[in-house]
Amino acid sequence: MAKKTAQAKKTANTYNIAVIGGDGTGPEVTAEAVKVLKAAADKFGFKVNLTDFDYGGERYMRTGEVLPPKATDELRKFDAILLGAIGHPDVAPGILEKGILLKIRFDLDQYINLRPVKLYPGVECPLKDKGPEHINYVVVRENSGDAYTGTGGITMKGTPNEVAVQSAVYTRFQVDRCLKFAFEYARKYGKKATGRGTENTLALVGKTNVLTYIYDLWERAFHEMGQRDYPEIRRDYYHVDATCMWMVKNPEWFDVLVTGNMFGDIITDLGAMTQGGMGIAAGGNINPQGVSMFEPIGGSAPKYTGKGVINPLAAICSMQMMLQYLGEEKAAEKIEQAVMFATGKKLKSLAAGKMGYSTSQVGDLIAEKVAE
Ligand code: IPM
Ligand code: MN
Repeated sequence: MAKKTAQAKKTANTYNIAVIGGDGTGPEVTAEAVKVLKAAADKFGFKVNLTDFDYGGERYMRTGEVLPPKATDELRKFDAILLGAIGHPDVAPGILEKGILLKIRFDLDQYINLRPVKLYPGVECPLKDKGPEHINYVVVRENSGDAYTGTGGITMKGTPNEVAVQSAVYTRFQVDRCLKFAFEYARKYGKKATGRGTENTLALVGKTNVLTYIYDLWERAFHEMGQRDYPEIRRDYYHVDATCMWMVKNPEWFDVLVTGNMFGDIITDLGAMTQGGMGIAAGGNINPQGVSMFEPIGGSAPKYTGKGVINPLAAICSMQMMLQYLGEEKAAEKIEQAVMFATGKKLKSLAAGKMGYSTSQVGDLIAEKVAE
């Protein structure tokens, strides 16, 4: 992250941002994130050059092309990418996800998927007796390996003997670079570092009792690196199934969690529900040395498209993470305050259609607060 910040500073606080609204409600929520971004730029004295890209299901159905051949080379030139959502009900599952979302993640080597699980004030939490003081942790999801690499295939398809294999793949290199990010993150943003506790903790989430190759590698790498380079950081280990249990029962135990791509995908949907749902859950696909892409973790919500009822806070919070990553800490802080003001004092609910505000009114509310 530090490198990227230095790079961004060189261009005199002007950020070139690629904006991919995508499918369904993606463009609507992204428009609100852009509204708040512009308000923050005015207030905090930086500039943004925005370039829109029409990648998504509509474009695919119109042109037959998921992404133009040079698309990811083009995206590589930006300081960051803001993404709405990818996924279209009229396109078979996998085509857009693999062809756009995963293609960008892989081509730009965004090997970290950073997903905070943070319950803001006033947000209804489905967990009994849990409040913002209990739910405030971060999942560092590895974003380049695991079953996502597409290693495998189907043979004898359509016959009674067909065989399908899809391998979970990890190299030591992938595991080490992810762990390094996670340890550094825990050192900088863990509970002790941020005054929320007495130690910084990194917990590995795995399945060492069944995935005895993959998570054996993770576990050895985890303790080796921790012992050698981060002795002051407490190391915990949880099986992924037990993690789901503790995320519901004792989320206050968690500080920073690190895990493989597939487990990370699954547990962060659970995490999102505990922080108020897809309307608020944000994330960043990060390449600490390259170009990162920020996106809400929820999908394209086709049934709400164009109705002006979808909650844009997840997109706004993703943009907030982008500013933090670009080094605009003050702006990021202010946006988070504004989001907390909205959840704590204004919105009736985070659910689509039940906020008491339209999508663009929520954007206005945050933008006005940021401008104050
Ligand atoms: C996510 C999504 C994606 C993933 C899909 C759409 C490919 O579920 O960002 O969590 O599995 O990573
Ligand atoms: Mn997911």
